[in-house]
Amino acid sequence: MKKVIIIGASTGIGSELARTFAKHGYEVGITARRQELLENLAAEIPAAKWHIKAMDVAQHDAAREALSQLIYEMNGVDIFIYNAGIGDSSSKWEKENNMLQVNAVGFAALANAMFYYFKSENKIGQIVGISSVASQRGSRMSIGYGATKAFMSNYMQGLRQQAAFKKLPITITDIRPGFVETPMTTGQKGMFWIIKSERASTLIYNAIVAKKHIAYIPGKWRFAAFIMRNLPEFIWNKF
Ligand SMILES: NC(=O)c1ccc[n+]([C@@H]2O[C@H](COP(=O)([O-])OP(=O)(O)OC[C@H]3O[C@@H](n4cnc5c(N)ncnc54)[C@H](OP(=O)(O)O)[C@@H]3O)[C@@H](O)[C@H]2O)c1
Repeated sequence: MKKVIIIGASTGIGSELARTFAKHGYEVGITARRQELLENLAAEIPAAKWHIKAMDVAQHDAAREALSQLIYEMNGVDIFIYNAGIGDSSSKWEKENNMLQVNAVGFAALANAMFYYFKSENKIGQIVGISSVASQRGSRMSIGYGATKAFMSNYMQGLRQQAAFKKLPITITDIRPGFVETPMTTGQKGMFWIIKSERASTLIYNAIVAKKHIAYIPGKWRFAAFIMRNLPEFIWNKF
């Protein structure tokens, strides 16, 4: 039985991904701060094998320790998915700083642990980060958020090159969704091409099992991302 760990699985895309992997016969480790939501999720599919671990990814050292315990309890893992994230467009430093700790530093703390776990075990493994189309270019609409997602994508690029250079059998999958209907986007204005979290989860699952390096969710966001990246600065600055 293949094993997956999903960080940030209590709601939205993460909980849908957990359901999808469980339905496909995976043993699933789920983490978040709200343990009760994780327990409810596991109770939905009792036939699956679940492991639950409460974890606050902003407490980086404690989160690394909890991850290590979870891997021990599961007796290993094949796929690691970092989905935890905050989408906050507030320019208040306390909020922006918290988002940096969760989306960027939390990701690096755990992706680093996973890379060295797979490397030291000499194991075929996969590290998946749920980044965003927002990683593509700095935007006034989400200055801190876009920067955290650019950090994630850049970090994954580095890990992928490191794995290739050292000939390690570790796949790094950078998932870049557009707008998905979840608690994070409830009430958000100006969204388009919105998809349900169930559809996002199916597309993300397919990209992960196909061992894609980069996947836009859904695929048409690849073109929007291309335009975002390549628009001349004097036009971009008018948006
Ligand atoms: N929705 C979109 O349109 C969209 C688009 C592109 C990318 N994304 C990315 O997709 C990911 C999932 O987002 P979503 O839309 O599904 O949002 P969501 O429903 O709000 O889910 C966020 C998840 O992150 C967890 N989390 C937040 N802070 C945490 C912390 N300090 N420690 C541990 N877990 C924490 C939450 O669990 P607890 O609160 O229980 O801890 C929850 O499980 C995020 O990384 C987001 O940036 C979303």
